[in-house]
Amino acid sequence: MSQHPLPLPEGVVCALIGAPGSGKSTFAARFPSTWCLNLDTYRALAADTEADQSAAPVAVDVQKLLLDARLSRGLRAVIDSTNLEPAVRAGLLARARRWNRPTVAVLFDVPLGTILARNGDRTRVVAPRVVADLHHLLPTTEQLTAEGFGTVYRISDRTTDV
Ligand SMILES: Nc1ncnc2c1ncn2[C@@H]1O[C@H](COP(=O)(O)OP(=O)(O)OP(=O)(O)O)[C@@H](O)[C@H]1O
Ligand SMILES: [Mg+2]
Repeated sequence: MSQHPLPLPEGVVCALIGAPGSGKSTFAARFPSTWCLNLDTYRALAADTEADQSAAPVAVDVQKLLLDARLSRGLRAVIDSTNLEPAVRAGLLARARRWNRPTVAVLFDVPLGTILARNGDRTRVVAPRVVADLHHLLPTTEQLTAEGFGTVYRISDRTTDV
């Protein structure tokens, strides 16, 4: 296992926040795999393909169950989903509050051009229009602090280290 990219306290809810292709899963792979919750994986487990959006509701349910299971034990959870909608982040913050756990946000502040260039090389290509629309939802670090995240890290396109 490679060295952890961030010092995450015990019991943390760590939200990775970024457009598709911004490098969230690549970053998450540097943590122990059991820490990481990922909606794409759960859609694939339910439907044999992560492209099947009809499996989105069950994937959300699975993620919620696993998040609560880990937080109840004081274990760390890294949420490797886009987490671009404020309501989704509010839900994660509420679960952390429910268990009295610390929160960390990791903002993948990667330029759209860089993401689109990487996107073309992927096996699972997301439509450029969809990527652009989601990229517009990217919050600032100040916004994330105002929402209630205890610690906020920003990752640019130049480095995966903070
Ligand atoms: N720091 C980096 N430098 C260059 N390429 C990168 C970097 N991080 C990720 N990539 C590449 O960019 C592509 C997208 O990365 P990744 O799958 O981690 O994104 P993601 O944010 O998890 O996307 P999604 O939300 O669609 O799951 C991959 O092909 C990956 O190899
Ligand atoms: Mg991913």
